[in-house]
This record gives sequence, C-alpha cells and structure tokens, in this order.
Amino acid sequence: MSMDRNADVTAGELSTGAPDLAAADLFHDDRHLPVFEALRSTHPLYRQDAHPRFGSFWNVTRYNDILQIDLDDASFTAEDSFVLEDMDEQFPLPMFLAMDDPRHSELRDPVKPFFSQASMNRMRESIRQEVCTVLDALPCDETFDWVEQVSIALTSRILARMFDYPMEERDDLIRWSHMVLCTTPEGGTIAPEDPMRQQALLECLDVFSRLRKSRDAGGGDDLLSLLVQSGAGARLKPSEFLGNILMLIVAGNDTTRNSISAGASTFARHPEVFARLAEDPEVLRGSVLEILRLQSPIAYIRRRARVPYVLHGRVIQPGEKVLLWYASGNMDPTVFPDPERFDPARPNAFKMMAFGFGKHRCLGARLAELQLSLVWQEAAKRFSAIELAGPPVQVASSFIKGYASMPVRLTRAS
Ligand code: HEM
Repeated sequence: MSMDRNADVTAGELSTGAPDLAAADLFHDDRHLPVFEALRSTHPLYRQDAHPRFGSFWNVTRYNDILQIDLDDASFTAEDSFVLEDMDEQFPLPMFLAMDDPRHSELRDPVKPFFSQASMNRMRESIRQEVCTVLDALPCDETFDWVEQVSIALTSRILARMFDYPMEERDDLIRWSHMVLCTTPEGGTIAPEDPMRQQALLECLDVFSRLRKSRDAGGGDDLLSLLVQSGAGARLKPSEFLGNILMLIVAGNDTTRNSISAGASTFARHPEVFARLAEDPEVLRGSVLEILRLQSPIAYIRRRARVPYVLHGRVIQPGEKVLLWYASGNMDPTVFPDPERFDPARPNAFKMMAFGFGKHRCLGARLAELQLSLVWQEAAKRFSAIELAGPPVQVASSFIKGYASMPVRLTRAS
C-alpha cells in the first residue's frame, strides 16, 4: 500500500467547482483554510463523487463530528487502510493502525510500554542530548535548510534510538520512510509500483529480519524487541512484520519532523514568544500544542462505515469511505475561537486533535511532545532569533502536511 498517491491530482477543484479534497496542492500556501471553513459552515458532511482515482468518499470537517466518529468503532472500521487508497494487493503492508480489535490490540499492547510516562522520563535526558548535538552543529548568521539540518537530523537520531538501530546507518530509516509514503526528499512523489520503491522496502524487511534474530533472545526494551518478543509479534508473517515496522518508522518520522519545521516557521513570525520559551514552561507547552493544532501533520485519517450511519440528515452507507479531517477540526472556531491565531495561552489548546482519538489515538504522542518541547527549549537557550530566509517548499500530499525544505537564518543568543 502506498500511503499517498494523491499528488498527481492537482486541480484543487472539481470541474463542477466543488472542492477536491484529494488534491495534493490544496494544502499549498494554506489554500485549504477557506475551503474547510466553507465546508464546516455549509456542508459539514461533504460527499465527493466519482473521483477519477478514489471514487466516492465522505469528508467530515467539524470538530465534534470527527471526535464522535473517531470514537465509534462499532459503526466504523479502520481495517485495510488509513488513507484514501486501499491496500495494494500486490504488495500488502498490514499494520495495526489499519486493523480493528482484537488484532489491533494484540499488536499495539506489546509496544505500548515503550511510550509510557515512566519510559519518557527515562528517555528525556538522552533525547535532550540528541537535541543538543543537532542544535550545537548549526551555523549562525548564514542561511541553511532547517528541514535537513534539524527536523530530519533529529528525528532520524531518535528513530535509531527507538529501534536500537545502528546510529551510523540512520539515513536508511528516512529513505524507507520516503518510500512508504511515495515521496522524494525534494518534496515530489514516486509511483507506488516503482521497482526502486519495492526493492527498498524489501531491503528494509531484510535488514530488520536480521536485526530481529538478534532481539529474539530477549532482554531489549527497544521497539523492535518489544514487538518480536510478544506472542502476537513473534508470529507475524513477513509482510505483517514489515508493515508494522514501516508504520512505526513513518509514524515516528514524518509527523514529528514536520512539526519541528512548522515550529521554525511559527517562531520566525512570533519572536516575542520564542524569546520566552527557555524560561516559561507554560508558554513552551502552549506553543507545542498550538504548533500541532495549526500544522496538523496528518491532515486526515480514513475510516469505513460498518452500518448505515446518519449524520446531518444524510446516510453514510456500509462500506463507504469517510475521511476525518483533523486539519479542519483543529480550525473549528466553535472549539478554538479565532482559530488561525497562534495563541500559546489558549485555555483549551490541549483539545487539539492532531493525534486523533480513541483506540487508534497516536501511541507516540508523549514522545512527540517531549521531542518538540526539548527542541524549542534548547533552541531558545542558544539562539535569540530565527528568521525565514526564503519561502519553504511544501510536501506534495493531501495526507502529510509538511515541508521538503525551509531556509532559515539564526542569531546566536548573547
Ligand atoms: C507530531 C507528531 C505526531 C503526530 C501529529 C501523530 C499523529 C497520529 C495520528 C493522527 C494517528 C492516528 C490516530 C487515529 O486514527 O485516531 C497516529 C497513530 C499512531 N502514531 Fe502518531 N503522530 C505523531 C508522532 C508519533 C511518534 C513519534 C510515534 C512513534 C513511533 C507515533 C506512533 C504512532 C502509532 C504507532 C500510531 C498507531 C496507533 C494505533 O493504531 O493504535 N506517532 N499518530
């Protein structure tokens, strides 16, 4: 399965004039904001018909509707795929994000302890060390690419630690993550059937299968060890093993990476907030939540109705696809007044929905928040200002909201 094949549908609008929410360029330059605003107000349950690639699907754009459906496993299934496109039957990659219980819990439960608060407390200082290594290597008063030198550099280091993967080979993890998502490092796309992609994913299977043998003996507390030492994890077929490993790589990579990039752009526009981050934990926490809300690194998640489901007087039929647009719910003014405003003191900032809800709520949420807090706390200690030195290049995707590059310039704190 490729997680994002929407990039070549670039109209942003159907011939009827109705918005095309599968269009990758909808998210360029925040063009999605007025589109979602209009849908929330007049078509909160919006059906897109006869899409050339994805057929018909429903779009849910209001905060409370998204919440209600995300929590309703009896009426909606996550099976098969979490993006518009169905699982690729030629190259299936089953993963627990796209499974229902009991199978979902059988695979989620063994890796859960890795993300507990106690585990985060243990990891905090080693993550801080990685953050400091990355930030200390940055130049001041010259332009460089924040995405490459900070967002990717840091997430690849954390990923390697998560799997106890050889640090010097951490670029492999980023390459495989791109291949899963069919994206290129430059922000473009590759075809899911591209032989280079399948070859890279099989290479990932080969490398992780070898690592797995060394972890089977037990004792490790990294993600791979926890997965393969559990009953369900030990019995995974190769395609399921690969699917779940890739899910953990992608989930830990693209999302956090894009939040770190979004933060740089936010603090370039809000130097007064940046100046307070090192000293004020409330402002730091509020900023992290607001960056997640405004960026929504995963724009939507897909479900499929199990039963006829009535919403706003319309019926979603069993089997029909439903997209829950976190990128819209996070901008719902009935929950977040003046939603486009970055407000670290927003009283209900914690309600942001970038991590989803319910049984599939992001397992890595604590780790992501920890990484983001440490990046911004340590950055504010070292630098007095961060400026954008040119326009960022966005990723061509309607699923991942992110950046391929972002030229910035830093000023050292005196
Ligand atoms: C800013 C960073 C992140 C964002 C915005 C994010 C967002 C999400 C979202 C929206 C979901 C699906 C929720 C749903 O279906 O209701 C999810 C699931 C998941 N995320 Fe994250 N994520 C982030 C970081 C991470 C990290 C660092 C990891 C670590 C590996 C991770 C691991 C997972 C896993 C394993 C799932 C599947 C959970 C399940 O199906 O039970 N995520 N994430």
